[in-house]
Amino acid sequence: MIKHIIAGFATILAIWACAHMISLDKEVHKLDKIHALIKSTAMEDTKLGGAKVENSKAVVIQKTVSTSNADSQDKKIQKKLAALKRKAGNIAAFKVSPLYKKRCSSCHGNIGQGIIGPKLMGRDKDYILNALHDFKSGKRKNYVMYGLLGNMTEEQLESLASEISTFQKKYDESQK
Ligand code: HEC
Repeated sequence: MIKHIIAGFATILAIWACAHMISLDKEVHKLDKIHALIKSTAMEDTKLGGAKVENSKAVVIQKTVSTSNADSQDKKIQKKLAALKRKAGNIAAFKVSPLYKKRCSSCHGNIGQGIIGPKLMGRDKDYILNALHDFKSGKRKNYVMYGLLGNMTEEQLESLASEISTFQKKYDESQK
């Protein structure tokens, strides 16, 4: 009889142990799930990292866009510089008579823009010729101009006057 009771107890114990094992197993299972969850969040993280990488790609793209902007700005500046150089070149290539170059340009500038002497560019022929006459005759007193014009002929004065009167137009054309 007692043997039966002990066997019964043993069975109950065994069943309880089994149940306990099952619940433990469940716990382990839960742990596994938690692990999986952590792993999946880790995956999320790497995904985020991927997004970050994509973001940085976007930054790189933006940078290249901005550098290409800078490039186009560079090109604009270079174009402007080229235009300025061309214009300067045009001025340098400005053809003046040997007489003007030798006798007048040192004070009035290569294109009559004025240096020591006043700007002549833009003056009309009559104004220039009158001034030259007045300097030469001494009516308009200026020792520099008086001394310069003393040994010059009327033809030279006239050709100089008509030449200088074209400077403005020539200059304007060189700046187009
Ligand atoms: C050494 C410098 C010098 C040289 C070279 C010189 N000039 Fe002058 N020129 C002057 C000065 C200074 C004046 C201003 C005189 C004044 O207003 O009293 C002047 C004035 C003039 C004016 C009057 C400008 C105005 O606004 O009324 C004319 C025109 C002129 N020069 C033409 C010439 C011509 C043409 C030559 C070449 C043959 C020449 N000059 C060479 C110094 C010079």
